[in-house]
Amino acid sequence: MHNLNGKIVVASHNEGKLREIADLIAPFGLEARSAAQFALPEPDETGTTFEENAYIKAHAAAVATNLPALSDDSGMCADALGGQPGVYTANWAETPDGKRDFRIAMQKVEDLLRDIRAVDPRERTARFVAVICLAWPDGYAEYYRGEVAGTLVWPPRGEIGFGYDPVFLPDGYDKTFGEMTAEEKHGCKPGAADALSHRARAFQKFARARLGST
Ligand code: IMP
Repeated sequence: MHNLNGKIVVASHNEGKLREIADLIAPFGLEARSAAQFALPEPDETGTTFEENAYIKAHAAAVATNLPALSDDSGMCADALGGQPGVYTANWAETPDGKRDFRIAMQKVEDLLRDIRAVDPRERTARFVAVICLAWPDGYAEYYRGEVAGTLVWPPRGEIGFGYDPVFLPDGYDKTFGEMTAEEKHGCKPGAADALSHRARAFQKFARARLGST
C-alpha cells in the first residue's frame, strides 16, 4: 500500500531546499529524514522535465531506504528565453571547479535578456516552478506542481533566501523573494487561499491530497 506512516526521506542535497521542505512538513507531524542522514548518493538528473528529474531523485531515495521519499525539482523559467534555464537552473550556476555560484547564474540570465534587449518589465516575465514527487520503492509515484509568476529585476535585491531569489519579483508584490522572510515567501496573504512561493503551492497540493490539510 502507498501510505505515509510518519517517516519520509527528503531526497535533496540542496541545503536551501532541505530547510524549506523541513519547515513546510513540520506542522504535519511527518518525520523528515534527509538524504545526507542515509549518505545517499546524488543521482544524475538526466530528465528533460521537472517531473522526470523529481522522479529520478525520489525513486532512487525510496529504493535505497525502503521508505517513501519526497523530492522537489524546481527551476526558474524566463519567458523571453523560451523557458530557460528551466530544468537546467542549477547547472547555470556551475563554476569550472564544480561548485555553484548563483551570482554567475543570475548574471548569465541578465546578459541573455540584455542581448535580446529585454529591458521593459513586460519582456522580463518569468515563473518559478516546483514539482514535488512522492515515490515508493515499488515505483509508484505521485506529483504535485506549484508555480508562481513574476518579473526578473536587475540588479539583484536582498540577501534572504537562496538561488535566484534576489532577481525574482513575484506579481503583485514590491519585494523580491530575496527581500522576503521565509514566512512572506511561503505564506498566504491575509484572505488568500493559496501560498505564494512555487514550492509552498506544490506543498499545499501535496498536504491537501495526502495530509488532510484544508
Ligand atoms: P534542482 O531542483 O536541484 O535541479 O535545482 C533547482 C534550482 O532552481 C536551485 O538550485 C535554485 O537555484 C533554483 N530555485 C529553485 N527554487 C528556488 C527558489 O525558491 N528560490 C530561488 N531559486 C530557486
